[in-house]
Amino acid sequence: MTSILPSKVIFDTDPGVDDAMALYYALAHPAIDIVGITTTFGNVTVQQAATNGLYLTAIAGKTVPVTKGVATPWVKPGEAPPDFIHGGDGLGNLPSRVATSNQLDPRSSAQFIVDMARAHPGEITLVAVGPLGNLSLALKLEPQLPQLLKEVILMAGTITEPGNVSPVAEANVWNDPHAADHVFTAGWKLTMVGLDVTHRVIVPLALVKKVADKHQHVATDVLHHAVSFYADFYSGIYPHVAKIHGCFGHDVLAFIYLTNPELFGLESGRMRVAVDGLAQGQTMLQRKSIPYPQAGWGIGMPVTHACMQVDAPAACKVLEDTLMSSWLHA
Ligand code: BDR
Ligand code: CA
Repeated sequence: MTSILPSKVIFDTDPGVDDAMALYYALAHPAIDIVGITTTFGNVTVQQAATNGLYLTAIAGKTVPVTKGVATPWVKPGEAPPDFIHGGDGLGNLPSRVATSNQLDPRSSAQFIVDMARAHPGEITLVAVGPLGNLSLALKLEPQLPQLLKEVILMAGTITEPGNVSPVAEANVWNDPHAADHVFTAGWKLTMVGLDVTHRVIVPLALVKKVADKHQHVATDVLHHAVSFYADFYSGIYPHVAKIHGCFGHDVLAFIYLTNPELFGLESGRMRVAVDGLAQGQTMLQRKSIPYPQAGWGIGMPVTHACMQVDAPAACKVLEDTLMSSWLHA
């Protein structure tokens, strides 16, 4: 009998409520082996992101290296984190935290990515769900990174769905547009899981409550508290989300794409990012195979795959089944 080894994954993240849900999905899923968590600024400061990465893994009883990465965008000035979406602590303002003792890996997130890619050439999938500064910096440290990583999956961007920080920009790309354009043009096997699909998947708070009720565990209690805060935010601005009282799936969809690519419909083409001006952070996909005379769209530009359709009920079912499994007590 042949057994399929789980994919080695580095999770680049800014936890963040939906980042926490994504992390727990990944830790729970038998086809995913999280070999490192590389944190970045975004939903919270990088210091808080690193603290949350350590905390979420420790309370789930998992030992995974966690690193601290870039604290600001590459070029544009940094901004205050959106505490009204994720809470000031990134986890919906937890009333208290249990004591834990996990320590940070001393390497920077970018150095960790490079070290792991060199140590396991062709084996590591990088799933990034925050601003893309760590990945961009890793590329600068190791220009061969696209050949060393197996593939890259991003929760980032949007093609036809309206943006969530401007009419055309998604938050992770908008937070560091120069890094995002660097990543989209680097030449790896790259799939973008953006708002075109993440806005189709509303995760009901009731699903997370069911998971917490089943496990009766601090990790799933923390997730339930965090998602409750996040669901209030989304329900406050989107009436169709309020009807379900839930939140968009965002980051966990990047992992669901990894485990269940059959649930997604893709388009492929060259992708660029508008780095400044009113369209800052816009992800532009070349959807027609015609030669464009404008600079920046030449045949040397690599192709990106963008998720454009998703089977939302099936994605929610995969999420529920995975979080309901016995991952916390194995
Ligand atoms: C993305 O931005 C962050 O707020 C979420 O964690 C997600 O990665 C959605 O636009
Ligand atoms: Ca995120």
